[in-house]
Amino acid sequence: MPVSPSDSLWWRQAAVYQIYPRSFADSNGDGMGDLPGITSRMAYLSALGIDAIWLSPFYPSALADGGYDVDDYRNVDPRLGSLDDFDAMVAAAHAADTRVIVDVVPNHSSNQHEWFKAALAAAPGSPERARYHFLDGLGDDGELPPSDWPSHFGGGAWTRVVEQAGPRAGSLGQWYLHLFATEQPDFNWDHPEVREDFHTTLRFWSDRGVDGFRIDVAHALVKDMSLPLRSKPVLEILVDDGTDPLFDRDAVHEIFEGWRSVLNEYNPPKAAVAEAWVPFTDRRLKYARPTELGQAFNFDLLQAPFSAVEFRSIAEKCLFEATASGASSTWVFSNHDVVRHPSRYALPDGSTRDDLEAWLLADGATPAVDLARGLRRARAATLFMLGLPGSAYLYQGEELGLFEAADLPASALQDPTWFRTLNTVKGRDGCRVPLPWSAVEPNFGFGGTPWLPQPVWFGSLAATAQDGVAGSTLEMYRSALSWRSKLQAEETLEWLASLSPEMVRYRRPNGWEVITNFGATPTQLPHDVDLSKVVLSSGGNATAGIGAGRVSGAGSATIPAETTLWIAP
Ligand code: GLC
Repeated sequence: MPVSPSDSLWWRQAAVYQIYPRSFADSNGDGMGDLPGITSRMAYLSALGIDAIWLSPFYPSALADGGYDVDDYRNVDPRLGSLDDFDAMVAAAHAADTRVIVDVVPNHSSNQHEWFKAALAAAPGSPERARYHFLDGLGDDGELPPSDWPSHFGGGAWTRVVEQAGPRAGSLGQWYLHLFATEQPDFNWDHPEVREDFHTTLRFWSDRGVDGFRIDVAHALVKDMSLPLRSKPVLEILVDDGTDPLFDRDAVHEIFEGWRSVLNEYNPPKAAVAEAWVPFTDRRLKYARPTELGQAFNFDLLQAPFSAVEFRSIAEKCLFEATASGASSTWVFSNHDVVRHPSRYALPDGSTRDDLEAWLLADGATPAVDLARGLRRARAATLFMLGLPGSAYLYQGEELGLFEAADLPASALQDPTWFRTLNTVKGRDGCRVPLPWSAVEPNFGFGGTPWLPQPVWFGSLAATAQDGVAGSTLEMYRSALSWRSKLQAEETLEWLASLSPEMVRYRRPNGWEVITNFGATPTQLPHDVDLSKVVLSSGGNATAGIGAGRVSGAGSATIPAETTLWIAP
């Protein structure tokens, strides 16, 4: 069934599947996924039961940061296809009742962007430089960077250029700001041409039929560049009251109000979701107001331990606040920037982000991980989340239960983090390995020799190995997404009492119930649960393992450890 053009609120409770195009499906055998590859897999996506796909950048790029270094915002990287291929992909998606969201990267361009090349060729103080943040350095000869700001990927956030014009031509001169890699110069969002150009980009893709946008690093666009620049030696420590020099400044909202006007030129209006790594406060919700983007990612569950108390309090808080702001909530466990959630949950309880990085650096060898437990918990967490009101953002391969490829050899790594930290932080390549489609075909059916090597164990998790296999992760996702479409009438839920502090239970207005046992041992189900109505279990077949220990009569059935059940009305 084609997408319904009249459904303007489709995004509020959508299941959105993130595609990392270079790693999804390779149609021409060059080892890099491409747009025709996505088109060729549209039937798989549609059968999965998702509402939309979100494509990470597919624009021309030198790939200094996996495509988040954009050379040209209104074109397709020739290695990934052409604009015609893009149109064909959108048409195929729409014919399959699947909407299309594309990534917009407004904080920075790449250093190959024509504006940045013009800025480098021009003299200090020129109009070409004014679209970026160029400053003279400190020290007697400008040899020190203008501030102590670090880059997200390690090292400093300033790079000094050799001047090509002006009185210092041929010598080291000004510095430019890049909060990410050297190849990602930050735009100056006070410049009207920068603002106008992004409106043009939004219209360009909207006119080509996309249904929404994901806004990269949305909270970073406006910076306090008044001199002297203020110190901020650690980027992650955010003063979240509007006074931080780099993030979540109040003036950023004018930009997104302008974007909303552009998105509302279309009928139905285009959807948008902000990537804004700000803590949970009403400040984060400003990005999601109906007058701005509509949704903002909430990474709270992604950052939480697998715990009944944490999951319930995060869900309660996010749903309450989203309703208060007029937005709908978002949920996400995995994406192209984080360790895949079955691996995160496989680490010993209490592991911190530093522990996770140390584990990656040790190629996944230490500490020992319990992968079976990690996947069991990931599946339970996913079913807990897919029952909630709001939009679920899924990352390619999570429907296969893929783990992080933690032992990628150093020679294969491409994430700028690895290089900029002088090989001390491995980075994000382990969740970006090209997908295994087939257990038996070369390169697991991805296409040519993949740009990141696939681990041997990919074969057992390949789509063909799980297709039609009762209880497989793929079939669990398919069933859940199919049932989910029946759940999503109203955007509310009721929390129900449970028999154990490790158990969380909620009911949707149409009577659907979700029960999760977060504990490490089986526990008794509430007396009023009718086992005959269990339609889905994260543990495998709908009723597998449930009721083990049932003696007689109501009230004695159990739910296995680390398991979620869905119960129909
Ligand atoms: C976002 C992207 C990430 C990228 C960064 C810089 O966080 O998700 O992949 O490296 O922005 O664009």
